[in-house]
Amino acid sequence: MNPWSADGIHVPIRIAVAASTKNRSPTGPLRPDNLCFEFPIMNEQIVILDFGSQYTQVIARRVREASVYSIILRYDTPAEEIRRLAPKGIILSGGPSSVYAADAPLPDKAIFKLGIPILGICYGVQIFAHSLGGRVEKGQHREYGKATLTVRDGSCPLFRKLPKSLQVWNSHGDKLTRIPTGFKPVATTDNSEFAAIEDRKRHLYGIQFHPEVVHTPRGRDLLNNFIQGICGCGRSWTMRHYVDQAVEEIRKQVGKDRVILGLSGGVDSSVAAALLHKAVGDQLTCIFVNNGLLRAREEDVVQEVFGRHFKIRLQYENATGLFLKKLKGITDPERKRKIIGKTFIDVFQTATKRAGAAKFLAQGTLYPDVIESVPIAGNPAAMIKSHHNVGGLPKNMKFKLVEPLKCLFKDEVRQLGLELGLPKEIVYRQPFPGPGLAVRCLGEITSDKLRILRRADAIVVEEMKAADLYYKTWQTFAVLLPVRSVGVQGDERTYDYTIAIRAVESQDGMTADWVRVPYDLLERISLRITNEVRGLNRVVLDLTSKPPGTIEWE
Ligand code: XMP
Repeated sequence: MNPWSADGIHVPIRIAVAASTKNRSPTGPLRPDNLCFEFPIMNEQIVILDFGSQYTQVIARRVREASVYSIILRYDTPAEEIRRLAPKGIILSGGPSSVYAADAPLPDKAIFKLGIPILGICYGVQIFAHSLGGRVEKGQHREYGKATLTVRDGSCPLFRKLPKSLQVWNSHGDKLTRIPTGFKPVATTDNSEFAAIEDRKRHLYGIQFHPEVVHTPRGRDLLNNFIQGICGCGRSWTMRHYVDQAVEEIRKQVGKDRVILGLSGGVDSSVAAALLHKAVGDQLTCIFVNNGLLRAREEDVVQEVFGRHFKIRLQYENATGLFLKKLKGITDPERKRKIIGKTFIDVFQTATKRAGAAKFLAQGTLYPDVIESVPIAGNPAAMIKSHHNVGGLPKNMKFKLVEPLKCLFKDEVRQLGLELGLPKEIVYRQPFPGPGLAVRCLGEITSDKLRILRRADAIVVEEMKAADLYYKTWQTFAVLLPVRSVGVQGDERTYDYTIAIRAVESQDGMTADWVRVPYDLLERISLRITNEVRGLNRVVLDLTSKPPGTIEWE
């Protein structure tokens, strides 16, 4: 958690990425025809049934952090399909619904007869009651936020080695008032006599609170008690292990054919490049397009790391002039984005032809991009994100896809990058938008404005790194405003541009808070920018959180 956070509280927001849902199995993201290891080579996994909780992905990540592979499936995945996957355990996520609502998401009841241990979280517990014969009622008071849990039966394996009194995080309206036959209460809160229940014989466990969020401090231990204790999982999921499996799978899929990868220098495409190169060596060609909207030294770092260090076949496409020409005179942000997206496709398409015949196109797609989200009523997140998915490649490019990161969460991709020997500068790179500096250079884009912005941005980054704050923030950058104002430098009056400093902390880019950068550091940044960069005379600080602002200015 970031010490500068205004409220100190981060409720992870589900990223309902607006990725297309076509071509996906109706029961989840896994397909046999790509590298997502449908019946993993992993012999141990936990299935999470998603009932629409904003925390579903957090649960999946917590399981992986316990070194066990996890997959998210839709709440109504047939029990037979789950049985085929042979998971060691099933977790029922929470969800915003009421089990008695007409359109309540309900599981295939046969999952309770599979003999596989099940942990129901929040709404998941209410499903036990609904499916196995208990009762759920509208709570008199919504139970939301911190509560103290008292463990009444310490022999319950879920609470092994945990204290009798625990701080937990609740978020529910409905409440369990009668538990199904076979179950017994294990723990209580002031507001609920059934805060935790168990049916040890049938391996069914339910908790009203959320163990996956940071506000349940011993939640990890509780989840580990389920994963390792009750389900009997080992610790088989590690990135070292994954490298070997992925290399083998990639070789199987690609054979002797050639692969093309669009390398942006971002974390995902960089890790995908290093992994593919390990698997198929010179069969891989990476195309790196310089759109003239990159930050300082970016093209040098990519060429240094991938060309000279990894000795990857790197095709460098310098399209700086073309992009600038197309953007001349354009001030509308949406038009800028469209032009950049289209020009990128044109350049990339021509570059692939020059690269020679290849059967495969590799992409750094991640797991959150392919999880089929259960729509949450009133959740605006999906809408917000959609405009970022610009610049997809055209349908007429006839490649088969290789997506070797498709099972991984971002933090796993970073670990994988380190495992493959990528430098910290790339592995912990901050998110950088596809349209690059175009979204940070407001108004018309000219090479002079880009020069100013690039130099100012480099100073912000250098100083934040020197203060050991750069890698602790989500994003830190400079924005060039099209506002010119009067200043005085030496004995001369100037009429120059303004630079805004933007530093935000965030969990996933959906919400953000501005970072309380120390004053002396801000002073140093401001002094250096005004002294070292010609063409600007004013530095301001952006104090806006998201919402109501966005992270980028555009
Ligand atoms: P906003 O500005 O909407 O940005 O608050 C949220 C996050 O998304 C990044 N961003 C983009 N990422 N292509 C991307 O890959 C884009 O076009 C794009 N636009 C914004 C932004 O940097 C922030 O992390």
